[in-house]
Amino acid sequence: MFDWLEFDKSIKKGFEEQAAQLNSYLSKRIEKNAHIRDLPIFEEPGKETIDRILSMDIPAKGRDPVEVGNELVNDVFEQAMLTQHPRFFSFVASAVSPYSLAGSILTDVYNLHVGGWEQAPGAGAIEENLVKWMGRLAGYPETNIGGVFLSGASMANMSAMVTARDSRLAPEDFAKGVAYLSDQAHSSNQKGLRIIGFRQDQIVKIPTDDDFRMRADLLEEAICRDRQNGKIPFAIIGSLGSTNTGSIDPLTELGQIAQKYGLWFHIDGAFGASILISPIYSNLAKGIELSDSFSWDTHKWLMQIYSCSTLIVKDRKNLLNSFAEHPEYLADVRSSEHNDSWDLGPEMSRPARAIKLWYTLQATGTDLLAELIEYSFFNANLVKKELSKRPNWEIVSNPSCGTVNFRYAPAGLSDEALDELTGRISKEIINRGFAFIVTTTLKGKRTLRMCTINANTTEKDILQTISQLDEIAKYETANL
Ligand SMILES: Cc1ncc(COP(=O)(O)O)c(C=O)c1O
Repeated sequence: MFDWLEFDKSIKKGFEEQAAQLNSYLSKRIEKNAHIRDLPIFEEPGKETIDRILSMDIPAKGRDPVEVGNELVNDVFEQAMLTQHPRFFSFVASAVSPYSLAGSILTDVYNLHVGGWEQAPGAGAIEENLVKWMGRLAGYPETNIGGVFLSGASMANMSAMVTARDSRLAPEDFAKGVAYLSDQAHSSNQKGLRIIGFRQDQIVKIPTDDDFRMRADLLEEAICRDRQNGKIPFAIIGSLGSTNTGSIDPLTELGQIAQKYGLWFHIDGAFGASILISPIYSNLAKGIELSDSFSWDTHKWLMQIYSCSTLIVKDRKNLLNSFAEHPEYLADVRSSEHNDSWDLGPEMSRPARAIKLWYTLQATGTDLLAELIEYSFFNANLVKKELSKRPNWEIVSNPSCGTVNFRYAPAGLSDEALDELTGRISKEIINRGFAFIVTTTLKGKRTLRMCTINANTTEKDILQTISQLDEIAKYETANL
């Protein structure tokens, strides 16, 4: 029979033991992180480790928790890609703020339920405060700003499309709706539209110009053509910092077109919305004030632990319209004065994601974070400057939002050979363990992409990386 007293004792003992164990794991790793530059960028687990994990049974009787914890640290946490490394230049990956770490650990220890306001009013107030701050930075009028913290921009972009659909299309017209985005928009936007039921032919990709910005003239043409054919254009998605190149669409023109034809204007600012805090670069986001909604991943450029994204809308009644439900079992715990976040987005039980960002912003201040943004621009420009001093390097996309694309293109090689060479250079710099740089493809050309937004990346890191790339490029060309 179930022995509750025994169970209770074991749980208490478990918490006591785990507190000591956790302290030891944390202090060891935090000490290591302080010397992150000396750590390997990618410690790949051996095949036997992965095979062992895959073949492990879930035991009927629990094992020694210290052994389990040690296994996790050694086999899982320590053997992975260190995306926080200062020479990890792929994805949109940044260093982690110590205050975000502290906020994140506290969030787990307290395990607040922030589905509704009443369960944790302080956390609700922090979330509302930050959403309003973000909206104000974008130039939204204060009174109606609304928003919700979500796991990532994939969720934020999808939730924005739910709101756009419900605001601009009658249910019987869903099958005629069309959404527009550029050929450089992040795949999460298209994926979100598909998840919520739009067919591929209802998602129109507009070509970009030489700077990878959406062609506003072609957008307007497409909207007019679709209207003439009986379709109902309902949403434009602009990019503020595209993943490939950091490019920023002509937001003002897109906003004006959205207003002219009555479309919802969403901006994917997952990456680039952070420039709003920089007095020097925020003007690049001009036009965002015309949008109806935007997403902002602070786990990208603002040094947050993952799962810290926000969807911000100009008028929160649109979120309530799409997401509010009133089940009888929540009737007693609804807030009478504030919006409950389960009414503002797709989630119910969720962690207090805003707390780590609040901790960081309060402890660091926006001045220093703005300098980080400006430093990222400086580093991407430095990459271009250094490459331009050396023969055969071609800049394929100019630095934008701390992102630059380039390739080694000596005369006389075919397009296929150049693509092959680019792939080999990426592979070799990763094999050397010096820097992590992968390729992407821009207008048919395979390129090396560097995203220089890590606060710990130094000028020396950049100079040494370029020097190694140059050496590898010469060697690989000779051996092609
Ligand atoms: C521009 C852009 N939008 C959306 C996303 C998806 O964000 P998440 O990975 O937080 O879901 C990314 C991810 O890199 C991105 O760069």
